[in-house]
Amino acid sequence: MTVLAVETSCDETAAAVVRDGRVLSSVVATQEVHALWGGVVPEVASRLHQRTLTALAAEALKRVQFEARALDGAAATIGPGLIGALLVGVSYAKGVAVALDVPFLGINHLEGHLWSAAAAGEQLPLPALALLVSGGHTELVRISGFGDYYPLGATLDDAAGEAFDKVGGLLGIPYPAGAKLAKLAEHGDNRAFPFAVARTDNPFDFSYSGLKSAALRAVRRAEEQHAENSSWKADLAASFQRCVIRQLVQRVTRALDGGEYASLTIGGGVAANHLLREQLAGLARNRGLRLLVPPVDYCTDNAAMIAWVAEHRLRRGETDPLSAEADPNLTLVPDSA
Ligand code: KG4
Ligand code: ZN
Repeated sequence: MTVLAVETSCDETAAAVVRDGRVLSSVVATQEVHALWGGVVPEVASRLHQRTLTALAAEALKRVQFEARALDGAAATIGPGLIGALLVGVSYAKGVAVALDVPFLGINHLEGHLWSAAAAGEQLPLPALALLVSGGHTELVRISGFGDYYPLGATLDDAAGEAFDKVGGLLGIPYPAGAKLAKLAEHGDNRAFPFAVARTDNPFDFSYSGLKSAALRAVRRAEEQHAENSSWKADLAASFQRCVIRQLVQRVTRALDGGEYASLTIGGGVAANHLLREQLAGLARNRGLRLLVPPVDYCTDNAAMIAWVAEHRLRRGETDPLSAEADPNLTLVPDSA
């Protein structure tokens, strides 16, 4: 089976082709313009998807010299995400499906992130524990099989990536700030600011709003005290990063303590973070557990993971009607909302 999938849920326009479980091509265009406003402007995102998507999808097919008419299915991310942005991709994929008389598949963006290591060619031993950490989501999920997911916990407020972006903004780092904040942190003292790891009633949930407020207070104080030099910024970045990662690793450790898992996998933009990767690698090593880490370009938003899930579903005979609606609040498991 060969499937073309597009991803337009946020600020990456992406297209990919997957055949029989293997990614043949994957192209991504990131909308840099949002840095001007310090966050994604939904209407601008939709318009840019509209402008870019057709050419990008054609490029994904051209790279593998694939004739559109030989496709077996057309897929798009159907949620969660920005509604206007989602509609561009969903309408495009439905158009392709109608034109070629092939099935349409609407794919859950979070399910794509869960399988991004698999899309990169790894076999995922099951059951697997998945940590999904992006700009919009922070979730801990037990994967028992394809389509069989159990959400253990999620953030009660901000997502981990959102905290990176907001605290990065306080330090003058343009959006999206995660990778640049991590770079700044390399030269800082990670104990200079004593940020505390949040507690939550459910031991597998996450919370970052308290840390964000503590960082805001610390920034205001440092700006007053050290108006003439900014070396505290690297210390704050390092202390903040340490605290975010400690919370993630703590919850993963608890989940591994509480259940039997054959592997651990991560996905989402924050999964590109070196400190997180290093610490999870140590944790997995100590427990003799396989850690499956996607390459950085499969951590951040991409269509390869969407096409991989779509092709897998198509092989199982699962398709969606052309009346399927984009859902900005789609969850991984329907009644987990
Ligand atoms: O998965 P993604 O591309 O988009 C969403 O679905 O949200 O994730 C983007 C998020 C942003 O918040 C960005 O700041 C964060 O991932 N990010 C990082 C790193 N690279 C990207 N956060 C921490 N460290 C990084 N190296
Ligand atoms: Zn994402």
